[in-house]
Amino acid sequence: MKPSETSAAWTSQRNGDKLAFAFDLGNASSPAGSFSSVGCAASCHSNLGSSVMYPSSGKVDIWNWDLALSSPLGYAVDMVANTDSLSHDNGNRLYYRNSNGNTGRSGPAYEWDGSTQTVTLPNGQSSILDPAFYLFNKTAFIGNIQRGDSIYQSATPPGDCVSCHGSVGQGGSSSIINTISQNKKSRAALMASMDNIADMAPYWLPLSQQDRDDIVAYLRGLSGVPGYYLNTPDGSNADIKAISNLTPIQVKNAMLPVTNVHTVYQLLITRKLNTTNTDDAQFDLTTQRSYTFGVALMDNDGKNHIGSLKETLIFK
Ligand code: HEC
Repeated sequence: MKPSETSAAWTSQRNGDKLAFAFDLGNASSPAGSFSSVGCAASCHSNLGSSVMYPSSGKVDIWNWDLALSSPLGYAVDMVANTDSLSHDNGNRLYYRNSNGNTGRSGPAYEWDGSTQTVTLPNGQSSILDPAFYLFNKTAFIGNIQRGDSIYQSATPPGDCVSCHGSVGQGGSSSIINTISQNKKSRAALMASMDNIADMAPYWLPLSQQDRDDIVAYLRGLSGVPGYYLNTPDGSNADIKAISNLTPIQVKNAMLPVTNVHTVYQLLITRKLNTTNTDDAQFDLTTQRSYTFGVALMDNDGKNHIGSLKETLIFK
């Protein structure tokens, strides 16, 4: 679903593949009924027809695997929906908003620092996160985007980048520079590369360091900066582990502005029956062998999801 806001400021769609489970955590209920009788309808929509994810009493444990925000680090997000909020479990979270202000439209606080983003997954394997999509090793985002824009668009050099690369980096007599692949270069590497392009010398070399930083801030705006940065979770946020056979190529295809072409992939989610954390549903097989739960699937779309309201998990 397209957001109704304008695209005049920074924006992030928050779309991506997600798979969410909901388990009762303290007798959740809504006008639709109790969790044990109606499943997810007790948790997700206290006012039926609204998209508010809160029960009207009790709490619900939400397990949310997210292609962009939890999968790269090998987890599913662990959350609790209670009567007035949907909040993360205790501990360091898997991701934080990459914003320098109070809203997602304020612009990024961080960008990639240029170092290889090697992470250790909960299963002990290591993985390298592609900076085109994921922000993990970060440094402060610097530069004045508006100033960079005006130097970029100036009618005469220095600046005047528009004459070869187009008004929004879409390309012209020279290359397209507004693609996410630009994020594979750190700020320093991108500047060094520009220093060495002979055609660009009169336009780029006379600029001050401040001018250059402002232009790169503008270029980052054109190519996009991850709207969240990832973080190694701990405490109750590290309870739900996930492995999938999703490859970066499939992720890349899913993010291209064409139809969603990624094919089938599989996902294995594991969690201890008893985490001993108070913000988790526990499974005590000595007292109870069947548990009501709900499941929802988001196919590259956070708002329109399909779900089953009531499922039963039976331990045999
Ligand atoms: C006279 C034409 C011209 C102008 C003006 C120009 N460039 Fe370029 N730019 C090039 C050429 C040529 C390349 C090399 C790639 C290609 O062949 O298109 C390039 C490449 C780039 C790249 C890609 C570098 C990389 O390693 O990925 C960036 C970014 C870039 N230019 C930014 C700018 C900025 C910012 C300005 C304004 C200060 C600017 N360019 C002005 C011709 C130009």
